[in-house]
Amino acid sequence: MKTILITGTNRGIGLELTKQYAQANWQVFACCRNPDAAKELQQLAEQSNQQITILPLDTADVSSMLTLKKSLGNTAIDVLINNAGILGKMGRETFGTLHDHTDEALKIFQVNSLGPLFLSEVLVDNVTNSQLKTIANISSDWASIALNKDGIACLYRASKAALNSITASMAAALKEKYIKVIAIHPGWVQTDMGGPSAVNTPEESAKGIMQQIEKLDIANTGCYVRHTGETLPW
Ligand SMILES: NC(=O)c1ccc[n+]([C@@H]2O[C@H](COP(=O)([O-])OP(=O)(O)OC[C@H]3O[C@@H](n4cnc5c(N)ncnc54)[C@H](OP(=O)(O)O)[C@@H]3O)[C@@H](O)[C@H]2O)c1
Repeated sequence: MKTILITGTNRGIGLELTKQYAQANWQVFACCRNPDAAKELQQLAEQSNQQITILPLDTADVSSMLTLKKSLGNTAIDVLINNAGILGKMGRETFGTLHDHTDEALKIFQVNSLGPLFLSEVLVDNVTNSQLKTIANISSDWASIALNKDGIACLYRASKAALNSITASMAAALKEKYIKVIAIHPGWVQTDMGGPSAVNTPEESAKGIMQQIEKLDIANTGCYVRHTGETLPW
């Protein structure tokens, strides 16, 4: 059975990915900050015939990552999806008063950029031990510097652009281990983050993300694509 570890699975895109991978008969390690409060995820796990294991993980905290690693041991992880992310209170704001909110600004980078990097380092041996050897970072089209014409969401965009840079670095560094790395824009999705006006359902987004992961080859490791497959400009 193929194995996947997904972060931020108590709601939104992460919850839907958990559902669809379990339906596709994968063993899912579904990570979230507070498993006791993750009622929808618990329900999914109960209905899943032991395919979903819920594990605590705060992606802003390296000690939480090390505890997760301890409980996983050498378990092979075919696919690691770094999905957890935040917009943050200042995430949508533009140039102006961002310097008044340094703690909030740093938190956005800690969760969106450094979390995926540090977790990938902590779990790299588990991915190396697997068949599919894949790491997917959930990015954003707002990460694209080329597409940034309005300057809104200055900090969130910068944090996801940093994640894209980290994706390229990881792809280069991990190629010799045959680990493939991809940055995927999930669409504009109807979640707490995307809001009700968003154009994509979580179902469409998760399906598209799964297709891009399945298509990924070592020849195109380090690519940056939409959930529908189009390449995005850096
Ligand atoms: N929705 C969109 O339109 C859209 C567009 C582009 C990119 N994205 C990206 O897609 C990913 C998923 O977004 P979403 O729309 O599903 O957002 P969401 O509904 O707001 O869910 C975010 C998830 O991330 C988790 N999370 C946040 N900080 C965390 C931390 N420190 N440790 C562990 N988990 C943490 C949240 O857990 P808690 O409940 O504990 O906070 C939640 O499970 C994010 O990376 C986001 O940036 C979304």
